[in-house]
Amino acid sequence: MSQNLLLEDLVTAVTQSPKYRTIAPDLIRRIGTAELAKRGSLKEAVKGTKNKLHQVGGAYWDTAVDYPKALTRLQNAANEETRRQTCRNLMRLHASTRERLPILDEFYATTLAGLPPIHSVVDVACGLNPLAIPWMPLAADVVYHAYDIYGDMLVFLQAYFGLVGVNGRIHHQDILSQPPAEPADLALILKTLPCLEQAEKGAAARLLGSIQARHLLISYPAHSLGGRGKGMVENYEAQFWGLVNDGAAAASGRSWHITRFEFATELAFLVTIS
Ligand SMILES: C[S@@+](CC[C@H](N)C(=O)[O-])C[C@H]1O[C@@H](n2cnc3c(N)ncnc32)[C@H](O)[C@@H]1O
Repeated sequence: MSQNLLLEDLVTAVTQSPKYRTIAPDLIRRIGTAELAKRGSLKEAVKGTKNKLHQVGGAYWDTAVDYPKALTRLQNAANEETRRQTCRNLMRLHASTRERLPILDEFYATTLAGLPPIHSVVDVACGLNPLAIPWMPLAADVVYHAYDIYGDMLVFLQAYFGLVGVNGRIHHQDILSQPPAEPADLALILKTLPCLEQAEKGAAARLLGSIQARHLLISYPAHSLGGRGKGMVENYEAQFWGLVNDGAAAASGRSWHITRFEFATELAFLVTIS
């Protein structure tokens, strides 16, 4: 059988599993191509692809989310305060936003303080982070681009944008096959680089080189998903400076001004490109 037919069979097999049904097909194809090249059979390649998809996405969810119910909860919030509380509760459903909850009140207020008005955002590999928009100091007319691989989550986020009156656009794509193309005032690249790099060496530098934003907020987790944090901050700090020194800054041909922030659950760097 030709490689193309095998790849289509692999995509069909992977998307039959409810866990991976709404994952961006370009990501399944990218991972599936590499797995087919290194495994002996379609069955093994399907298994390998599912493992990789679990690593980059599935591991962050404890259970499947009931998005219609989540939307109803937001719609039923009687006032702004109740809606913020509902957003907080929903952010518990994804491990990455859940870890940010203890620092949410200070995270955006501190890292984005002093920036000129932010009229456009690209939130790269966003997870449920757009639910934190009420905590972000953004201009009222902001255009918010949300990128991720989960189609059902993005459809929910599009409905949420409508509900809260944000001019939001969703992008269901693999950000490595098809990097975000919109120029923006701010790019949020939160806890995403290690996840991409783990799946493919060199991915972090490739992504950074393609983003067209004046300010980048790049962060790393201070704990692993399992809760162990020993040495993680030091390791990620070294990874970040390695990226900067190895050429991400040089490739842009411009200078990077970097401010470092350390929170209880997250290490962040605000990069301003001039
Ligand atoms: C560690 S979580 C970070 C989520 C969010 N940025 C935050 O900090 O709360 C990684 C996210 O990357 C997404 N992701 C993984 N690989 C991706 C890819 N190739 N393209 C787009 N999104 C991806 C996952 O679905 C997940 O939402």
